[in-house]
Amino acid sequence: ESSVPAESPGDSPQAVDTPLTRAAVFLVLTISDADGSIAIVRDVLGGIDDLVKTVNFRDMRASLVCVASIGVRVWDAVTGLPRPAELHEFQPVVGAVHTAPATAGDLLFHVRADSADLCFEFERLLLAGLGEAVEVVDETIGFRYFDARDLLGFVDGTANPVGRALPAATMVGDEDPLHAGGSYVVAQKYVHDMTAWQALTTEQQQAVMGRTKVDNVELADAESGQKSHKTLNTIQDEQGEHGILRDNMPFGSAAAGEFGTYFLGYTRRLWVIERMLQRMFIGDPPGLHDRLLDVSTPKTGNVFFAPSAETLASLGD
Ligand code: HEM
Repeated sequence: ESSVPAESPGDSPQAVDTPLTRAAVFLVLTISDADGSIAIVRDVLGGIDDLVKTVNFRDMRASLVCVASIGVRVWDAVTGLPRPAELHEFQPVVGAVHTAPATAGDLLFHVRADSADLCFEFERLLLAGLGEAVEVVDETIGFRYFDARDLLGFVDGTANPVGRALPAATMVGDEDPLHAGGSYVVAQKYVHDMTAWQALTTEQQQAVMGRTKVDNVELADAESGQKSHKTLNTIQDEQGEHGILRDNMPFGSAAAGEFGTYFLGYTRRLWVIERMLQRMFIGDPPGLHDRLLDVSTPKTGNVFFAPSAETLASLGD
C-alpha cells in the first residue's frame, strides 16, 4: 500500500477526458454542519475509485466513470491542502438583459456511463455512503439526444479539444505544481424556452449558434455587430486560442414542460470560462449579448476543482 505524501501528490487526472457518453448524472451537494460530516466526505471521496470498480465490473462495456470535484467553501476542511491558485466562488455575471446567478454547492459528482442503470446504481451507493453528511442541492439526469444534439437541435461538443490539446486545455500543470493534474470545473443548469426558439427560422437559429443545423458546419465569424455563440466563446490572446472541454448534456421532462442543457466545462484556467461568460452575458461589444441566452436561462452556477486522481485517493488515508 503506497500512500502519497502531500508535497508530491501525483498528477494523473481523474477520468476528465472520457468521451461523451449516452447517460450522465450531475449531482451537486452541500456538506451538512453535523459533527463528523467532513470525515465521512473525505472517506467517501477517497473511496470513489473502488466504488466505480464495484459498479463498473457488472457491465464493463458501459464504461462507468465518476469525476469528483470540490468547491472553495469546503476546500480547506475537506482536503487540508492549500487552495488551487484560481479557485473561488462562482462570480455572478450581470448583463443588461441576462444574469448568470451563483448558487450553493460544495461537491459535484459527474457520473457517466453508456447506460443509465450504472449511473443510477453508482449514485445510489454514493449517496448511501454519504448519508446525513450531505444535502442534495441538484440532481440532473442527462441523456444523449440523437447524434449528440442539445434540445435546441444542434450538435453540441464538436469543437472540444482532442489529442494533446485535451490535457493542455483541461489539466493544471507546472503553474500550480501542488494541483497539477487537476481541473477547474464550471457547472450551469440552463432551461430553454422552446416556444421562442421554435419561432425562429433555421437560418436565424444557425446565426445564433454559428454552425449549420443539419450537417454541423461552421459559419464564418461576423466581422462586426452581433456575434454568434461560437464566436463569443472563442478566447484568444498572445498565447493563441484557449480551449475548454464541454460535457454538456440534455435533460428534461416533456410532461413537466422542462427542456434543458446542463453545461459542464473543464478547464486548466478558470479565467477562460469566466471570460466566456462575460462575453456571453455582457456581450462583445457590451450590449450585444449571446442570443442563445434569449432562449436559455441559467438556474444554477458553481465553480469546483477536480483534484488529481492521487490527491482524491489520498483523502481516504
Ligand atoms: C459551442 C450549445 C452554453 C462554451 C457550442 C455549440 C453549441 C453550443 C451547439 C457549437 C458546436 C460545438 O462546438 O459544440 C450550447 C448550449 C448552451 C451552451 C445549448 C447552454 C444553453 C455554453 C457556455 C459556455 C459555452 C455557458 C462557456 C461558458 C462554448 C464553446 C464552444 C461552444 C467554448 C466552442 C466554440 C468554438 O467553436 O471554438 N455551444 N452552449 N457554451 N460553446 Fe456552448
